[in-house]
Amino acid sequence: MRNVLLIISILFFGTTLAVAKDSESVMQTNPFLQSPVNNGMTVSWLTNSPTLSWVEYGQDTTDMQRAVTLQNGQVVANNTIHHIRLTDLQPNTKYYYRAFSKVITAYGAYSKGFGTQETSSLYSFTTAPEDGAEEDFTAVVFNDLHKNTATAEAMVKALDGVDYDFVIFNGDCIDDPSSQDVAVDIISKFNDIVGASETPVIYLRGNHEIRNAYSVWLYDVLQCVSGDLSYGAFSWGDTRFVLLDCGEDKPDSHPVYYGMNDFSQFREDQKNFLLEEVKRKEFRKAEYRVLVHHIALYGLEYPEFNPCYDLWGQILNDANVDCAINAHEHRVAFHPAGEFDNEYPVLIGGGPQLSSACVTVIKRSNGQMTVEQIDAKRKVLKSIVL
Ligand SMILES: [Fe+2]
Ligand SMILES: [Fe+2]
Repeated sequence: MRNVLLIISILFFGTTLAVAKDSESVMQTNPFLQSPVNNGMTVSWLTNSPTLSWVEYGQDTTDMQRAVTLQNGQVVANNTIHHIRLTDLQPNTKYYYRAFSKVITAYGAYSKGFGTQETSSLYSFTTAPEDGAEEDFTAVVFNDLHKNTATAEAMVKALDGVDYDFVIFNGDCIDDPSSQDVAVDIISKFNDIVGASETPVIYLRGNHEIRNAYSVWLYDVLQCVSGDLSYGAFSWGDTRFVLLDCGEDKPDSHPVYYGMNDFSQFREDQKNFLLEEVKRKEFRKAEYRVLVHHIALYGLEYPEFNPCYDLWGQILNDANVDCAINAHEHRVAFHPAGEFDNEYPVLIGGGPQLSSACVTVIKRSNGQMTVEQIDAKRKVLKSIVL
């Protein structure tokens, strides 16, 4: 009977029809939080079939308001990748939310059909402090997990109850994504391990996120902090985070790229972004300036193929950056200011195996900022005060 109704609705509505398979839930992933900037928060999730999706949120679970994504006056629907932006949130405030998805069985010109509706669990999050506020916070940075969920789990365990406010994945975590399903599977696993339904995550690209068939579409699922761009800057209290995307680790002319990369221009774009960023009040007035990008300007690769150093090095050296957190080398390393011509200390996270992995903890507490690299055995490998 159900199939008959399905066929009738296809004939009647004459439009794309999608029904969740009986064996599948409506939601493909748990909701996860992205782009915790500018008094906003994006709630993201995927569904197994096209839906109408929305978020209910508020400071009080008995008084929730509804948010949808609008585009040119229409509710964005009949899709499977959902990003609902919550705006005008109060700083440093706890909000509750639930995600909702209702299967769209028919989306016709004059009639629509709906199927199963699914609601997520009730979650909460706390928004970023007011820009410039001297508020304590903790951020953690993972890198080069290369899809290794066991290492991710061990590193979270090594944090030993550290209550972190947001998470940065500093590249080479969603290793060579071959399809949307493969990418979403690993992103979901990392999200669940770090608790991304209640703690915002920022996924930066390493060179490995740029490889394989789904790489060009990765930011359909992910959001950094500046719209569709994979780089940007944001304030968390009185700390300014600058996030950069180094691109590939070989020249654009390398034969394995088949002429399909132009990271030369992309790095130039980021040079222009940096020139603007260092002039911004939010950057200049910040108490701390933390730089996060995958390939270090200084370290193992220095001074081999290093276009980011050539383009960005002087700007960053002149900008009173307090530290850089980098990755890519699969070994934990520390380069104090002045080891090369770097004006700021450089901390490089480790590799995907437990024996070489570390998690970097950025902690603003008691009027000071510390950055620590911790290994799987909870040993503090490096601790610096900025
Ligand atoms: Fe890597
Ligand atoms: Fe890398």
